[in-house]
Amino acid sequence: MENLRRLFANNRQFVDEALQSDPDFFKRRAGKQEPHFLLIGCADSRVPVELLTGAAPGEMFVHRNIANQVFPSDLNLLSVLQYAVEVLDVEHVIVCGHLQCGGVKAAMGTESYGLVDNWLAGIREVYRRHSAELGAYATEEERFNRLVELNVLRQVYQLSRTPVVQNAWKRGRRPMLHGMVYDIKDGLLRELVLQVDNDEKVQALLEADRRGVGY
Ligand code: CO
Repeated sequence: MENLRRLFANNRQFVDEALQSDPDFFKRRAGKQEPHFLLIGCADSRVPVELLTGAAPGEMFVHRNIANQVFPSDLNLLSVLQYAVEVLDVEHVIVCGHLQCGGVKAAMGTESYGLVDNWLAGIREVYRRHSAELGAYATEEERFNRLVELNVLRQVYQLSRTPVVQNAWKRGRRPMLHGMVYDIKDGLLRELVLQVDNDEKVQALLEADRRGVGY
Protein backbone atom coordinates (compact mmCIF):
# COMPACT_ATOMS: atom_id res chain seq x y z
CA MET A 1 0.00 0.00 0.00
CA GLU A 2 2.93 2.30 0.62
CA ASN A 3 3.69 2.54 -3.09
CA LEU A 4 0.07 3.34 -3.83
CA ARG A 5 -0.11 6.07 -1.15
CA ARG A 6 2.95 7.63 -2.73
CA LEU A 7 0.97 8.15 -5.96
CA PHE A 8 -1.62 10.29 -4.18
CA ALA A 9 1.04 12.26 -2.32
CA ASN A 10 2.93 12.93 -5.55
CA ASN A 11 -0.29 13.96 -7.24
CA ARG A 12 -0.95 16.59 -4.54
CA GLN A 13 2.54 17.91 -5.04
CA PHE A 14 2.09 18.06 -8.82
CA VAL A 15 -1.16 20.02 -8.41
CA ASP A 16 0.39 22.43 -5.89
CA GLU A 17 3.35 23.14 -8.13
CA ALA A 18 1.21 23.55 -11.26
CA LEU A 19 -1.11 26.01 -9.51
CA GLN A 20 1.80 27.95 -8.07
CA SER A 21 3.12 28.80 -11.52
CA ASP A 22 -0.35 29.13 -13.10
CA PRO A 23 -3.53 29.43 -10.99
CA ASP A 24 -5.67 28.53 -14.07
CA PHE A 25 -3.55 25.52 -15.09
CA PHE A 26 -6.39 23.02 -14.77
CA LYS A 27 -9.29 25.39 -15.41
CA ARG A 28 -8.00 26.30 -18.86
CA ARG A 29 -7.59 22.65 -19.82
CA ALA A 30 -10.94 21.46 -18.51
CA GLY A 31 -12.93 22.82 -21.46
CA LYS A 32 -11.25 21.00 -24.34
CA GLN A 33 -8.05 19.40 -25.56
CA GLU A 34 -6.10 20.47 -28.62
CA PRO A 35 -3.16 18.06 -28.82
CA HIS A 36 -0.60 18.35 -31.64
CA PHE A 37 0.50 14.75 -31.33
CA LEU A 38 -0.85 11.24 -31.25
CA LEU A 39 1.83 8.96 -29.88
CA ILE A 40 1.63 5.19 -30.21
CA GLY A 41 4.10 3.67 -27.80
CA CYS A 42 4.96 0.53 -25.87
CA ALA A 43 3.26 -0.20 -22.55
CA ASP A 44 6.72 -0.61 -20.95
CA SER A 45 6.93 1.23 -17.61
CA ARG A 46 10.37 2.60 -18.48
CA VAL A 47 8.99 4.67 -21.36
CA PRO A 48 6.80 7.40 -19.83
CA VAL A 49 6.35 9.34 -23.07
CA GLU A 50 4.98 12.60 -21.66
CA LEU A 51 7.66 12.75 -18.99
CA LEU A 52 10.56 12.13 -21.34
CA THR A 53 9.35 14.61 -23.98
CA GLY A 54 8.16 17.29 -21.57
CA ALA A 55 4.67 17.19 -23.10
CA ALA A 56 2.23 19.11 -20.90
CA PRO A 57 -1.32 17.92 -20.13
CA GLY A 58 -3.38 18.51 -23.28
CA GLU A 59 -0.46 18.28 -25.71
CA MET A 60 -0.25 14.60 -26.47
CA PHE A 61 -2.93 12.01 -27.21
CA VAL A 62 -1.48 8.63 -26.28
CA HIS A 63 -2.10 5.00 -27.12
CA ARG A 64 0.16 2.32 -25.68
CA ASN A 65 0.25 -1.43 -26.11
CA ILE A 66 2.89 -4.13 -25.96
CA ALA A 67 5.62 -3.39 -28.51
CA ASN A 68 3.73 -0.44 -30.10
CA GLN A 69 1.77 -2.53 -32.59
CA VAL A 70 -0.58 -1.22 -35.29
CA PHE A 71 -2.97 -3.96 -36.37
CA PRO A 72 -5.59 -3.14 -39.02
CA SER A 73 -8.08 -5.17 -36.95
CA ASP A 74 -7.43 -3.45 -33.60
CA LEU A 75 -10.65 -1.56 -32.85
CA ASN A 76 -9.07 0.11 -29.85
CA LEU A 77 -6.15 1.59 -31.77
CA LEU A 78 -8.25 2.46 -34.83
CA SER A 79 -10.76 4.34 -32.66
CA VAL A 80 -7.96 6.32 -31.04
CA LEU A 81 -6.47 7.06 -34.47
CA GLN A 82 -9.78 8.11 -35.98
CA TYR A 83 -10.65 10.41 -33.11
CA ALA A 84 -7.15 11.92 -33.05
CA VAL A 85 -7.04 12.56 -36.81
CA GLU A 86 -10.65 13.40 -37.66
CA VAL A 87 -11.86 15.13 -34.51
CA LEU A 88 -8.77 16.45 -32.73
CA ASP A 89 -6.98 17.11 -36.04
CA VAL A 90 -3.53 16.20 -34.70
CA GLU A 91 -0.61 17.30 -36.85
CA HIS A 92 1.72 14.39 -36.07
CA VAL A 93 1.23 10.68 -35.47
CA ILE A 94 4.33 9.15 -33.91
CA VAL A 95 5.18 5.49 -33.50
CA CYS A 96 7.72 5.29 -30.68
CA GLY A 97 9.53 2.01 -30.07
CA HIS A 98 12.30 1.49 -27.55
CA LEU A 99 15.51 -0.47 -27.14
CA GLN A 100 15.36 -3.42 -24.73
CA CYS A 101 11.68 -3.92 -25.65
CA GLY A 102 10.52 -7.15 -23.99
CA GLY A 103 7.86 -7.72 -26.66
CA VAL A 104 10.42 -7.56 -29.47
CA LYS A 105 12.81 -9.77 -27.51
CA ALA A 106 10.09 -12.37 -26.95
CA ALA A 107 9.29 -12.40 -30.68
CA MET A 108 12.94 -13.25 -31.46
CA GLY A 109 12.90 -16.42 -29.41
CA THR A 110 11.02 -19.69 -29.49
CA GLU A 111 9.72 -19.62 -25.92
CA SER A 112 5.94 -19.47 -25.50
CA TYR A 113 4.33 -16.84 -23.24
CA GLY A 114 0.69 -17.79 -23.77
CA LEU A 115 -1.86 -15.32 -25.06
CA VAL A 116 0.69 -12.60 -25.76
CA ASP A 117 2.29 -14.81 -28.43
CA ASN A 118 -0.65 -13.93 -30.68
CA TRP A 119 -0.03 -10.24 -30.13
CA LEU A 120 3.63 -10.65 -31.11
CA ALA A 121 2.94 -12.56 -34.35
CA GLY A 122 3.45 -9.41 -36.42
CA ILE A 123 6.98 -8.90 -35.07
CA ARG A 124 7.84 -12.54 -35.72
CA GLU A 125 6.80 -11.91 -39.32
CA VAL A 126 9.07 -8.84 -39.52
CA TYR A 127 11.90 -10.94 -38.08
CA ARG A 128 11.31 -13.66 -40.67
CA ARG A 129 11.13 -11.23 -43.61
CA HIS A 130 14.38 -9.58 -42.55
CA SER A 131 16.21 -12.73 -41.52
CA ALA A 132 18.97 -12.22 -44.12
CA GLU A 133 19.74 -8.67 -42.99
CA LEU A 134 19.45 -9.50 -39.31
CA GLY A 135 21.59 -12.60 -39.70
CA ALA A 136 24.47 -10.47 -40.97
CA TYR A 137 24.88 -8.72 -37.60
CA ALA A 138 27.67 -10.05 -35.43
CA THR A 139 25.86 -9.98 -32.11
CA GLU A 140 22.45 -10.77 -30.71
CA GLU A 141 22.23 -7.26 -29.27
CA GLU A 142 22.71 -5.66 -32.69
CA ARG A 143 20.01 -7.93 -34.13
CA PHE A 144 17.74 -6.99 -31.24
CA ASN A 145 18.32 -3.25 -31.70
CA ARG A 146 17.73 -3.48 -35.45
CA LEU A 147 14.53 -5.48 -35.01
CA VAL A 148 13.23 -2.75 -32.69
CA GLU A 149 13.79 -0.29 -35.56
CA LEU A 150 12.28 -2.56 -38.20
CA ASN A 151 9.25 -3.07 -36.00
CA VAL A 152 8.70 0.70 -35.72
CA LEU A 153 9.06 1.13 -39.49
CA ARG A 154 6.57 -1.67 -40.06
CA GLN A 155 4.05 0.00 -37.77
CA VAL A 156 4.51 3.36 -39.54
CA TYR A 157 3.74 1.52 -42.78
CA GLN A 158 0.70 -0.14 -41.20
CA LEU A 159 -0.55 3.29 -40.10
CA SER A 160 -0.19 4.63 -43.63
CA ARG A 161 -2.48 1.87 -44.90
CA THR A 162 -5.37 2.62 -42.55
CA PRO A 163 -8.49 4.18 -44.12
CA VAL A 164 -8.27 7.04 -41.61
CA VAL A 165 -4.81 8.13 -42.79
CA GLN A 166 -5.51 7.34 -46.46
CA ASN A 167 -8.70 9.40 -46.44
CA ALA A 168 -6.98 12.31 -44.71
CA TRP A 169 -4.16 12.33 -47.28
CA LYS A 170 -6.61 12.06 -50.20
CA ARG A 171 -8.25 15.25 -48.94
CA GLY A 172 -4.83 16.88 -48.76
CA ARG A 173 -4.93 16.86 -44.98
CA ARG A 174 -2.48 15.95 -42.26
CA PRO A 175 -1.28 13.94 -40.30
CA MET A 176 2.41 13.42 -40.86
CA LEU A 177 3.65 10.03 -39.70
CA HIS A 178 6.93 9.59 -37.84
CA GLY A 179 8.93 6.71 -36.40
CA MET A 180 11.23 7.08 -33.40
CA VAL A 181 13.19 4.89 -31.03
CA TYR A 182 13.79 5.62 -27.37
CA ASP A 183 17.02 4.40 -25.81
CA ILE A 184 16.30 3.26 -22.28
CA LYS A 185 20.01 3.26 -21.44
CA ASP A 186 20.70 6.94 -22.11
CA GLY A 187 17.19 8.41 -22.11
CA LEU A 188 17.46 9.82 -25.64
CA LEU A 189 14.88 9.72 -28.42
CA ARG A 190 16.25 9.05 -31.90
CA GLU A 191 14.47 9.74 -35.17
CA LEU A 192 14.08 6.84 -37.55
CA VAL A 193 11.75 8.13 -40.24
CA LEU A 194 10.15 11.56 -40.27
CA GLN A 195 7.42 13.36 -42.18
CA VAL A 196 5.77 10.51 -44.03
CA ASP A 197 2.77 12.39 -45.37
CA ASN A 198 1.95 10.86 -48.76
CA ASP A 199 2.10 7.54 -50.63
CA GLU A 200 5.36 8.40 -52.45
CA LYS A 201 7.11 8.68 -49.12
CA VAL A 202 5.57 5.37 -48.04
CA GLN A 203 7.01 3.81 -51.22
CA ALA A 204 10.46 5.23 -50.40
CA LEU A 205 10.14 3.73 -46.95
CA LEU A 206 9.28 0.34 -48.45
CA GLU A 207 12.17 0.53 -50.92
CA ALA A 208 14.65 1.22 -48.13
CA ASP A 209 13.05 -1.60 -46.15
CA ARG A 210 13.60 -4.03 -49.03
CA ARG A 211 17.22 -2.98 -49.47
CA GLY A 212 17.78 -3.43 -45.77
CA VAL A 213 19.40 -0.03 -45.39
CA GLY A 214 18.87 2.78 -42.95
CA TYR A 215 16.35 5.51 -43.58
CO1 CO B 1 8.45 -2.52 -25.17
